[in-house]
Amino acid sequence: MQILVISGSARVESNTRKVANLGSKYLTELGADVTFFDVGHDILPLYSGAEGEELHPNVQKLRDYASQAEAFFILTPEYHSAMSGALKNALDFLGSSYFRQKPVSIAAAGGGGKGGINALNNVRTVIRGILGLGLPQQVVIDPADLTGNGQLIEAADKRFRGVVEELVTFTKAISASKVL
Ligand SMILES: Cc1cc2nc3c(=O)[nH]c(=O)nc-3n(C[C@H](O)[C@H](O)[C@H](O)COP(=O)(O)O)c2cc1C
Repeated sequence: MQILVISGSARVESNTRKVANLGSKYLTELGADVTFFDVGHDILPLYSGAEGEELHPNVQKLRDYASQAEAFFILTPEYHSAMSGALKNALDFLGSSYFRQKPVSIAAAGGGGKGGINALNNVRTVIRGILGLGLPQQVVIDPADLTGNGQLIEAADKRFRGVVEELVTFTKAISASKVL
């Protein structure tokens, strides 16, 4: 069960990255082989469609990981009521040939003022646009949900694990059914 985790924040002290690392850990514990793409570490060029753009090593890395993935866990920060531009740029390098009929779970890091849901809805719209199977559960992580050592407080951890477990359940079911 190959799952690609995409951490969608380039911010140096990113909460999205902390949560994405935790998601990778939980997925691994549930038996997944996890690959990790961090838009803040694996810096992509700005999508232009120019000839040779696909030869950029980070574009190749992203596309290789996405080709091999049976499912995706996409984590975004909420910036100005939307996903980050860096994450959208990464998704623009992929598109439906990488996502069609593959389960996708989503989570957001918000600022704590009831934000996060806008970014989730925004990502969900894009997943539909690239023909991924957006799964119903989702979670917003606020700064107060994170402990100093990159863990989550109990209530947030329960919601977060629910999202991760749903992704594993659907990925296994689709893989076992061989219908898709
Ligand atoms: C440019 C910018 C815009 C932001 N806009 C929002 C927003 O619309 N809603 C919200 O809840 N938080 C907003 N925040 C707070 C971030 O969601 C919060 O800092 C979160 O931790 C971002 O994830 P990151 O730490 O991975 O970058 C914004 C932060 C920045 C830097």
